[in-house]
Amino acid sequence: MITADYDLQHLNTLGCPSRAEYFCAVSTLAELTEALAWAQQRSLRVNLLGGGSNVLCAPVIPGLTLAPNLLGRNAVKQAGEQIWVELAAGENWHQAVLWCSSQGWYGLENLALIPGSAGAAPIQNIGAYGVELAQLLSEVICFNRETQSLQTLDANQCQLGYRDSIFKHSLRHSHIILAIRLRLSLRFKPDLSYGALQFQGVNPSASELLDRVIHLRQSKLPDPAVTPNAGSFFKNPVVTTATLTRLLERYVSVPHYPAAAGFAKLAAAWLIEQAGCKGQTYSGVNVHALQALVLTNPAHRPRTDVLACAATVAQSVQAKFGIVLEIEPQLLG
Ligand code: EPU
Repeated sequence: MITADYDLQHLNTLGCPSRAEYFCAVSTLAELTEALAWAQQRSLRVNLLGGGSNVLCAPVIPGLTLAPNLLGRNAVKQAGEQIWVELAAGENWHQAVLWCSSQGWYGLENLALIPGSAGAAPIQNIGAYGVELAQLLSEVICFNRETQSLQTLDANQCQLGYRDSIFKHSLRHSHIILAIRLRLSLRFKPDLSYGALQFQGVNPSASELLDRVIHLRQSKLPDPAVTPNAGSFFKNPVVTTATLTRLLERYVSVPHYPAAAGFAKLAAAWLIEQAGCKGQTYSGVNVHALQALVLTNPAHRPRTDVLACAATVAQSVQAKFGIVLEIEPQLLG
């Protein structure tokens, strides 16, 4: 069912006022192709909306906004200690993480409580606490709008990078993600590389690790259901090692992480805090007091105000450190 002038404020976790010219939630491939044909007949642009937790919605989004709400989760293959699990695009990511772990299919624990849908996970290659989707993704099943057929991409073809994939670039308009396949393990091997996940020398159980990750996120990241936000608003900047050396000469404690040879990743949250923006409000939008990388929008300010706040933060960081911050959420409309 296609609805005209549909309110999207409750469907984007930043809570920006937004209306879709037309909106349609589809739960089967047949409904999806029908909705696409409807839009094509009217020469309407099609926008995709998943869990709405990584988007910046315009006040009016022209064309048809489609929510692929396809559901289903199954184990599809097993070999040795590995199991391949397929999640339909509309499955809630966190619920899928809990379900896999409860089935004895391990590997997703560090990615608990990330908002959004399974179908959106490969688009920005979600990652947290030392684990990235790239380590677990086996295939992505898409509907190719150009060939009007299903296409399966293996993880290499997805060109996953730090908060990046081919779905943000060349396949952005042509491919709609229908399902993802993950390669999980029947044996629990916790990844405790992230500092705050240490368990005093004792290996945790899967549910203990899940609890720790959930608790960590809840202690720093605002719940989008209570305080509108889109998680990290900025990417952690990747700089040359020469830039890092220059920074370390002036600021000995600058946090940094390994990246590709000749580069280092900096903590945007640290740069923002040092630039004095943490806990501040700009254009009615807040820089979260517990995690400076998160912008919160309790007053439901429009996208222009969220972007104005982000610009103020980025300018402050650039003025102090000469580092350019890039925003993480994608613009819709
Ligand atoms: N820090 C500050 N001030 C702050 C927050 C953090 O100085 O307000 C410092 C910390 O002390 C630490 C460093 O910044 O040295 C990194 O902080 P943290 O470990 O909290 O992680 P992050 O780099 O800020 C990234 C992801 C998060 C993910 C966490 C945990 C990005 C853009 N963000 O944040 O992902 O949950 O690591 O692994 O890579 C998201 O993408 O929406 C998201 C929440």
